[in-house]
Amino acid sequence: KRITLFASGSGSNVENIHEYFKGSKSVEIAGVLTNKKNAGVLDRCDRLGINAFYFNKHALYNTEAVVSLVNSLETDLVVLAGFLWKIPDSLLRAYPGKIINIHPALLPRYGGKGMYGIRVHQAVVDNKEPYTGITIHYVNENYDEGAIIVQEQIPVAAADTAEDVAAKVHELEYEHFPRVIEELLNKQLN
Ligand code: GRF
Repeated sequence: KRITLFASGSGSNVENIHEYFKGSKSVEIAGVLTNKKNAGVLDRCDRLGINAFYFNKHALYNTEAVVSLVNSLETDLVVLAGFLWKIPDSLLRAYPGKIINIHPALLPRYGGKGMYGIRVHQAVVDNKEPYTGITIHYVNENYDEGAIIVQEQIPVAAADTAEDVAAKVHELEYEHFPRVIEELLNKQLN
């Protein structure tokens, strides 16, 4: 089974997923797509020997080109790991029920356009939330609104800063995302 990842940032989730499946005989990373020319994820892909592509224009991204590229990678599951653009309808149509995303909060709260990165955790801290966590969900035409696959939560300590929360949430992502991907792919096999 082959997964194609979309990422806009540092790509620590991409690297973590790469590590998890490194020895796997049944799952491999087909490629990584990014919309940021100098994203950290590209450096990681160079270092890890992962196929990486970038779309430098929203226009190109919105054409059939992105579908053709994902098809050419013989993709079984599209995985968004810190990708900041909306997924074009053409890709949603081509991969129904096969595009998932991870969001660093307990959706439906603290989600939606523009809610990403440290600002998610800052909002959680500012609102004195007792808990936060991650949401892994199917992707649809709106930001962070697809059917939820799994949520994992952790307590937020009163003294936690947004950076403290970010670090704890990243650990949660690394612990759960690869396993959820594996379970979804196993379901595709049956
Ligand atoms: C993660 O917090 C993920 O939940 C969110 O974007 C961030 C990506 O971080 N969607 P990285 O690029 O994988 O380090």
